[in-house]
Amino acid sequence: MPPWWQGAVIYQVYPRSFQDSDGDGVGDLPGIVARLDHLVALGVDAVWISPFYPSPMADFGYDVADHCDVDPVFGRLADFDALIAAAHARELRVILDYVPNHTADTHPWFQASRASRSGPKRDWYVWRDPAPDGGPPTNWLSEFGGPAWTFDPVTGQYFYHAYLPQQPDLNWRNPEVQDAMLAVLRFWLDRGVDGFRVDAIHHLVEDACLRDNPPNPDWVPGQSPARRLLRTRTMDQPEVQSAIAAMRRVSNAYPGQRLLIGEAYLPIDRLMAYYGEALGGFHLPFNFHLLSTPWQAEPIAALIRRYEAALPEGAWPNWVLGNHDRSRVASRIGAAQARTAAMLLLTLRGTPTIYQGEELGLTDVPIPPDRVQDPWEKRVPGLGLGRDPVRTPMPWEAGPEGGFTTGTPWLPLGQDHRAASVAAQAGDPGSMLALYRALLALRRREPALALGTIAAVAAEGEVLRYERLDAATGRRLLVLLNLGGAEQGLDRCGTPLLSTHGAPPVAGRLRPHEGLVLAIEAG
Ligand code: GLC
Repeated sequence: MPPWWQGAVIYQVYPRSFQDSDGDGVGDLPGIVARLDHLVALGVDAVWISPFYPSPMADFGYDVADHCDVDPVFGRLADFDALIAAAHARELRVILDYVPNHTADTHPWFQASRASRSGPKRDWYVWRDPAPDGGPPTNWLSEFGGPAWTFDPVTGQYFYHAYLPQQPDLNWRNPEVQDAMLAVLRFWLDRGVDGFRVDAIHHLVEDACLRDNPPNPDWVPGQSPARRLLRTRTMDQPEVQSAIAAMRRVSNAYPGQRLLIGEAYLPIDRLMAYYGEALGGFHLPFNFHLLSTPWQAEPIAALIRRYEAALPEGAWPNWVLGNHDRSRVASRIGAAQARTAAMLLLTLRGTPTIYQGEELGLTDVPIPPDRVQDPWEKRVPGLGLGRDPVRTPMPWEAGPEGGFTTGTPWLPLGQDHRAASVAAQAGDPGSMLALYRALLALRRREPALALGTIAAVAAEGEVLRYERLDAATGRRLLVLLNLGGAEQGLDRCGTPLLSTHGAPPVAGRLRPHEGLVLAIEAG
């Protein structure tokens, strides 16, 4: 029996924007419980919930002030226990977001660390003396703009933060930090969670010799200012691997295959290292490469082949179309192709992760300047880096706030999103939601899709094609995706199982933007 997560489909919930239950305009844990049946009807197997821990919300929960509790805006620990019970009762697994790289600056650890140079927690964070000119110790840049070092007058040293100054980096070279952070995993594993998505793992350790990062010759104005430098000294350092292996040893000590997924935006060859020595690392290092590959048949076919070929022996693939940090797929490639993308995601070999709202075809929502929330947009305005447009509330039903809240939502709902609500789409067989449900149901019915091999990945003009095979039964499926707007001839016959166009396929033709799964008869 393969482990559960290989045949599973994961669904990401961004809790601030999923469902509000108390009218404060921010989603919460009881809200997630109230909407679990949407996930059941959709047909996913696991829900990954972005951080809900106590936080000053400088980075909306990715600045954790207490790793082992629930922020009052999201509920209480008892609400979490109720959520996990309700999810498990529906055979849904629960995956938490684990943020090991940094804490909030209000975390008691950082408060103790910054209080004095000689305190016992001083070395829990990354403190350095100023450069001889009094400036920062290195040229390292914060992902969210500005230097990655902030001077703290209390003790006359700088502390390092890969992200906001309110998110000081933990010092993972300190064994006490490792122990304390591994204890966080145990806290939630003991409460029954089925796995973790590990945040920003490639940032965990920085160069001990404090060497500068080199300039990036490819940077052009308009790109994130953090990309002016290559992150040679601040990312993907060798020690990251031993930290991941330690996390994996903790998860391995629990029964039931607790899943570890790593967030690392890295080239394919480097990403593979995150499966770990003899696969003792992440079960799934997130594969974000569909986010950056041109939406054309040849580059995507090449990506699939390159990724599959690079997987180490025994490694299981995974695919992603979007998340709470990246422009929504329907905005990147358009509404028509978003349907083809759904078929791609759910018919490729490997564990797919769906970001909330993808199943409705939601698009990026323009945010008026006075409603901007994301600190990245505030610190580096006008470049389109802000992530608010992809974090707007889920539209559940008709009504002014789409059933998301009875109050004022923390971010506006998309104007055209109300018409795309779950209730509106549920009864429409031609809707995106209906397509997602059909794809997930097909995946459940066809072991070739959930667990089978992949072969014959090719581009033929604008058509991307591949086969999926269930070795046990010999069942062979052909996936054909027309990534263009022109009709294409079909040279293969087989029994059509599902078309993105709902209506039965036209014999011998692939309509514009159509995706098709066919069963190929043996012989
Ligand atoms: C990850 C999260 C992102 C967050 C950052 C800092 O990239 O996905 O939302 O801002 O880490 O924690």
